[in-house]
Amino acid sequence: MNPPWPRTAVLHAEPPSQRLLALGGLGVEDLAERFGTPLYLLDRAELVGRMRAYRQVFGPQVDVVYAAKALCVAGVLQLATAEGLAIDVASAGELATAIRAEVPPERIVFHGNNKSVEELVAAAEYGVGRFVADSFVELERLSELGTVLDRDLTVLVRITPGIQADTHRSISTGQDDSKFGFSLSAGLAHEAVARALKLPGVELLGVHCHIGSQVFALEAFERAASLLAGLLGDVRDRHGVVLAELNLGGGPGIAYTDRERELPLERYAETLGAAVQAACDARGLPLPRLAVEPGRSIVGPAGVTLYTVGTVKKIPGVRTYLSVDGGMSDNPRPALYDARYTFAAAGRPPGDPSPETRTVAVAGKHCESGDLLARDVTLPADLAEGDLLAVAATGAYTFALASNYNRLPRPPVVLVGDGQAQVLVRRETLDEILARDVPLS
Ligand code: LLP
Repeated sequence: MNPPWPRTAVLHAEPPSQRLLALGGLGVEDLAERFGTPLYLLDRAELVGRMRAYRQVFGPQVDVVYAAKALCVAGVLQLATAEGLAIDVASAGELATAIRAEVPPERIVFHGNNKSVEELVAAAEYGVGRFVADSFVELERLSELGTVLDRDLTVLVRITPGIQADTHRSISTGQDDSKFGFSLSAGLAHEAVARALKLPGVELLGVHCHIGSQVFALEAFERAASLLAGLLGDVRDRHGVVLAELNLGGGPGIAYTDRERELPLERYAETLGAAVQAACDARGLPLPRLAVEPGRSIVGPAGVTLYTVGTVKKIPGVRTYLSVDGGMSDNPRPALYDARYTFAAAGRPPGDPSPETRTVAVAGKHCESGDLLARDVTLPADLAEGDLLAVAATGAYTFALASNYNRLPRPPVVLVGDGQAQVLVRRETLDEILARDVPLS
């Protein structure tokens, strides 16, 4: 095993001279030749292994809900469903993908701070299992919809617990100043619960929170779990209603580089379980049914992106820029969140691998200086034009955030395992991009 590389990665030598030779039993050069670059690869064994680990560690009494936003592709949702995971969607598009993947409606959790009425109708018509209500107006809309449909829509209320997670500010969501949820400390959480309990057409099943993403501090998860379980106690005391469900969101951090260590799943599960148990014991409450919503920690470590080096530009005394055939259009995370990744030369070098290394910047091909995948990364010195470059742990929030900046077609997503490659998303074509342009006549 070579984290942050997926479990079937065949690596040669040690960093920084390390080379990725194969994934899923297939040589990376063959994969690049067959599918072109940039190329998103998903290691099936890593992906399915992670789904199974979640199910096993949390056990049958906890629902594991895959947060589709991390990588919303029908094939991945099919695998998740087959492995017993439920699916979190956050838009009509993610819902449509879940429908295409034939996710059973009751296994879908519908999120979003601004779901449109059309989205709510589509979700209600499909029969999604849980609406996570995020505003008072949404509660009203759900109530009207449930009344019209003459069946109660099953709802969780999203709570902002007032916790600042140790992550990038763009992906921290538990603090009071957040567009998500009903603030506990401002009293909105109680108001939302009270409202939901009264509204016709709505059945309040429980509460939800999500404190942020790429979080390593177990104490933050622990505090959120305990505050939310405490809220269930308050609801019982105030309204005489015991809410049965507690969804604690996603967020466990993964390793992108060898300096990070993934949040251990067992400790994460134990921490959540113990915090909820303690809070419930203290209030004399029965244990609610727990759910967690991992996205990144399911798909992130299963992904590898392959690029081809196009140009190497050496600016004496300044820096060497190695430019690849993709960049911020297929992975905007370095530009958006200062995200760091692990890079390796891929495939066999033309001659003997040189033990020499040099520190370079890895640039994309887009028209802005911010389009850097890495500022300083040490790679074999002989990595040259035409060679392959691999990036580890790119399964989450890359394809999901991809754009057509500079009109680059988006790369394909290919699942690899046991020597087989399966296209989950084919490469976008220029014709597809141009098809939406309407020239003036
Ligand atoms: N549940 C809810 C309600 C969420 O909003 C999210 C992520 C998750 C679960 C899954 O969190 P995870 O286990 O993946 O950390 N684009 C950013 C990440 C945004 C996360 C959004 N919500 C990035 O690339 O880092």
